[in-house]
Amino acid sequence: MTESLGTPVLAASSSRCAEWWREAVIYQVYPRSFADANGDGMGDLPGIRSRLPYLRDLGVDAVWLSPFYASPQADAGYDVSDYRAVDPMFGTLDDALALIEDAHAHGLRIIFDIVPNHCSDQHEWFQRALREGPGSRMRERFHFRDGKGADGEEPPNNWESVFGGPAWTRTKNPDGTAGQWYLHLFAPEQPDFNWDHPAVRDEFSSVLRFWLDHGVDGFRIDVAHGLVKAAGLPDAGSIEHTRLLEAHFSPSFDQDGVHEIYRAWHHLLNEYDGQRIGVAEAWAPTQQRTANYVRPDELHQAFNFHYLATDWNGDALRHVIDDTLTAMRAVHAPATWVLSNHDVTRHATRFANPPGLGTQIRTAGDRDLGLRRARAATLLMLALPGSAYIYQGEELGLPDVTDLPDEARQDPAYSRAAGQDGFRDGCRVPIPWTVSGSSYGFGAGGSWLPQPNSWAELSVEAQYGQSDSTLEMYRSALGLRRDHPALESADNLRWCDSPPGILVFERSSDEGPAFTCTVNLTGAPVTFIPPGRLLLTSTQVQVTVGQAVLPPDATAWWTTD
Ligand code: NOJ
Repeated sequence: MTESLGTPVLAASSSRCAEWWREAVIYQVYPRSFADANGDGMGDLPGIRSRLPYLRDLGVDAVWLSPFYASPQADAGYDVSDYRAVDPMFGTLDDALALIEDAHAHGLRIIFDIVPNHCSDQHEWFQRALREGPGSRMRERFHFRDGKGADGEEPPNNWESVFGGPAWTRTKNPDGTAGQWYLHLFAPEQPDFNWDHPAVRDEFSSVLRFWLDHGVDGFRIDVAHGLVKAAGLPDAGSIEHTRLLEAHFSPSFDQDGVHEIYRAWHHLLNEYDGQRIGVAEAWAPTQQRTANYVRPDELHQAFNFHYLATDWNGDALRHVIDDTLTAMRAVHAPATWVLSNHDVTRHATRFANPPGLGTQIRTAGDRDLGLRRARAATLLMLALPGSAYIYQGEELGLPDVTDLPDEARQDPAYSRAAGQDGFRDGCRVPIPWTVSGSSYGFGAGGSWLPQPNSWAELSVEAQYGQSDSTLEMYRSALGLRRDHPALESADNLRWCDSPPGILVFERSSDEGPAFTCTVNLTGAPVTFIPPGRLLLTSTQVQVTVGQAVLPPDATAWWTTD
């Protein structure tokens, strides 16, 4: 049966604006695993610099770097001991400054990660707090508390660390006796700052200025929803209440008081020219709570983890898209879309597995199915209004490496396996650049996590210029996204009537052709009247006069001429 795709049913306002971040495609570089210039098996800043032409040619607008600051690496750099220094394993401050300059010269904006919720236990302040003991001024900059029980042997409250186990660790007094406890929402090596303390606020304003003065275009704010805790640090209603993305109130996350900090940062960013931005890594229970972080006087973007966590299901995807657009429209912020990052199983593997397994998956699943769906999901994502995030290697269709040997794994959440993370090494395996050579061109040495033998065919070299490769699909999609006039408006998505399991939406502008995206999630081919001329597909689509056949797990982009 040939079906018409119908007419738009959902009206939306349309806007055009000159703020770069509203429609930007932002590419996440995980410095450990992108490119290794000095051949020590670990990626570094000079390596990233050497690959900037690749990112420019890919067609992204900006690059976000996960942390490369001085760090003992208890959590792969998310445990910072000096926020103004570059860890020697990644290079020098001069390398960071040259990277900013080079990125700009390549027409790319550059965003750094900032980690304000916690530091490393090796940070000077925390070391002093330990030394200076209970009652010291330095301890006020963290959350130190006496324990409960006759000898203070129980933690001060029942909060769980995101990585598993209690969120409190007991210290030892200088005389070796058991002392106070300190709070760490993540690993014990990551003590939480007390953001009620003015010195903490002042220090981070100064750190932001340090990097802004050096030219960065913005910050991805780690655990943006965690800085302020409920007053008095009350027990959580249940252990699950300290987990992320749960639809209930948690005393450790998403407190209303956190927004005052972002209002202050908004002013700070505004003092600089060039539209510097703040992006919240905020796992809030609802899209409406997420939208609070991007109200007009707060940050610019917030990651859409509700979208990332959605299974390959038409109703669920349509629901989360609508929910996102509605919530973001209400605060005049751009929607953002993301499918993968350094904390979750890559989407080529998530979609290779049955639905409902969450974002930490241990099984490879059906690789062909996963890649087919990943490609379709990417074209869906890149057709949506707003800003999109790409995680390094997804443009190569990389799967998660699910069979890493235990001894190779470095994720602290792996050894504390009761937490909600734990399998994050699988998405952190270094990128294959070439079909042969040591570590597939990642560097002249090995790679800090072993790469699978099958990765030659997934390398950049193998895919570049091959019209049916995933890399070329990304390049084409990013080019079309930039050039098609209907994709310039931030909020012009209109759903068209379609049978269950098929998503069809149109984006149009006042002038020029309209754009249509069709996604087949039914598991069977679907035949319909083409809504225009075929622009791009995630897989082969048959188009004859008046009829198109979209295979299962496929997305096609169309334009009216
Ligand atoms: C979120 C980061 O993305 C993750 O990698 C890290 O472990 C936690 N925050 C703690 O900093």
